[in-house]
Amino acid sequence: MKILVTGATGNVGSEVFKQLATHGQPVVAGVRDVEKAIRLYSKLSAGAGEFREFDFNEPATWLTALAGVDKMFLVIPPGTTNPLQVELFFETAIQAGVKHLVFNSGRTTGDLEDEPLHVTEGLIKKSGADWTILRPGWFMQNFLNWVGFTIPSEDAFYLPAADSRTAFVDVRDVGAVAASALTESGHSGKIYELTGLEALTHFEVAQKISEAAGRTIRYVHLNEEEFVIEMVKRGWSQASAEHTVFLYRIVRMGKEAAVSRDIEMILGRPGIDFESFAKDHASCWEVR
Ligand SMILES: NC(=O)c1ccc[n+]([C@@H]2O[C@H](COP(=O)([O-])OP(=O)(O)OC[C@H]3O[C@@H](n4cnc5c(N)ncnc54)[C@H](OP(=O)(O)O)[C@@H]3O)[C@@H](O)[C@H]2O)c1
Repeated sequence: MKILVTGATGNVGSEVFKQLATHGQPVVAGVRDVEKAIRLYSKLSAGAGEFREFDFNEPATWLTALAGVDKMFLVIPPGTTNPLQVELFFETAIQAGVKHLVFNSGRTTGDLEDEPLHVTEGLIKKSGADWTILRPGWFMQNFLNWVGFTIPSEDAFYLPAADSRTAFVDVRDVGAVAASALTESGHSGKIYELTGLEALTHFEVAQKISEAAGRTIRYVHLNEEEFVIEMVKRGWSQASAEHTVFLYRIVRMGKEAAVSRDIEMILGRPGIDFESFAKDHASCWEVR
């Protein structure tokens, strides 16, 4: 059995690829830049991983990437969400022999009508293949790059989250659940909500990062307008700042706060907690 992992240079896909390859599972990383992926995985000792060119927006790459593939892990990054194209890709994959799709959706956006992740969930359900939908909560890893990019230089991060609570998930757990869904039976037709076992405020997150980093890191609440101005000043596009504001509106409504036990049910252990995540990644927040 061979598995194609899309988004294999990203947060979630890289975990799925790594966990499958290190367990000796034949797996293909479908990537836009094969050289970049090989560099990223140069420390992987397992011989089970293979790299093939794959771009959602270049249908000429699809069939080669799909050759001999039985199952697929799917992420739909921004810019690849055109429903007609997604549907055509599923048709192509199924004709090429793919029998099971495991889709990385989102906890709340997976439920919002017209949102790309929700639309894709619908297309997967009617694709004709077996499917499993993962709905992860907010990634802990967001504090390493996306919303935490100011930590090394400013000892602070800025968000319009107020004092809302979020049940974060470590992408290593998302990768482990995806690997189970792709290699074990009993996951077809299931939707899993993936979170850790605690819902934290961003003040508590700052405290845990401070403890791991060994210096005080502050969470600074900004209102929506202030957040957009600050992030654009730091180099974000207006569109990504506004999209982040939209996502944090959902967070402030408390929709990411409920804790799910699905990780424990599938993996037989609770999800990784924020403290452990922070300790494991302390070097990423060193002063720069
Ligand atoms: N961040 C969160 O808290 C969170 C929570 C729940 C759900 N999600 C969802 O989880 C999904 C994955 O997130 P992530 O953080 O893993 O994303 P990410 O780190 O930004 O990775 C995106 C991946 O998609 C690849 N990609 C981009 N455009 C492509 C194209 N045209 N064709 C093929 N591959 C392409 C990228 O490859 P390159 O290296 O070539 O750019 C990269 O490997 C997203 O749909 C996100 O909405 C995120």
